[in-house]
Amino acid sequence: MVDHETIAERVNAGKSFVDVEGFQFDNADGTDDVNREAESTQDLLARVGGYLNRRSFMGTAAKAGAGAVALGSLGAGSAAAYDEASDVDILNFALTLEHLEAAYYNQFLEENDEFDIEASESLGAKFADPQLQFSTWQELVAIRDHEEAHVEALTRTINDLGGDPVEPAEYRFPYEGLDEFVELSQRVEAVGTSAYAGAGPFIDNQDVVAAALSIHSVEARHTSFFGAYLPASSMPNAFDPARDMSQVVGIVSPLIVSE
Ligand SMILES: [Fe+2]
Ligand SMILES: [Fe+2]
Repeated sequence: MVDHETIAERVNAGKSFVDVEGFQFDNADGTDDVNREAESTQDLLARVGGYLNRRSFMGTAAKAGAGAVALGSLGAGSAAAYDEASDVDILNFALTLEHLEAAYYNQFLEENDEFDIEASESLGAKFADPQLQFSTWQELVAIRDHEEAHVEALTRTINDLGGDPVEPAEYRFPYEGLDEFVELSQRVEAVGTSAYAGAGPFIDNQDVVAAALSIHSVEARHTSFFGAYLPASSMPNAFDPARDMSQVVGIVSPLIVSE
């Protein structure tokens, strides 16, 4: 367990999410025939996503088969690859999403400066309060910084646990202009939030659960931030649905153009 240190204190001190000394794999890692070092982002998403689907479908053989078939159409590896996924695999699955989020905001911030945001009628002018109009760019920078911190902490944790952190991929973000950027951001954040919720119950190690929860709520805040710019409510539910991993992979895969 995380003793008296909070997750943030551990990470800010340059440590892993987990207490590596006391860490024990509660489920198999490296005992299957998956070559994790050579695994592409898409294959990792399909393999671990497929495994998590299978876990959530357990007890319903027909459904498990349907899930595997659906993921197979996304370019997954062999059926045998679905057999096992460890906590490190789940961390790597999370890292693929965090790489994507970090790249997404870096690209946007490279293409849009503070003036572009402040001068935008579609974004800033939605707020009567100029304070909000002029803080939007800073908030986007903060979100980008969060994503980079998530990437860094997950990478360090996976390394410390002897895993192979997945590398960033090449992405294609289909938006034009600030309105579409906000809509896509809201969707990207919402899928990230629901992915942590969906994967969480399958994590065995308590430190990893604590780490995932500490990120999960931040992704929900990101979702709400963008939701506030959109006509729909930024907090529509008392209980959010967890997305199953075939939905997560289905939404995220079209944004990933490289292997
Ligand atoms: Fe993130
Ligand atoms: Fe996020």
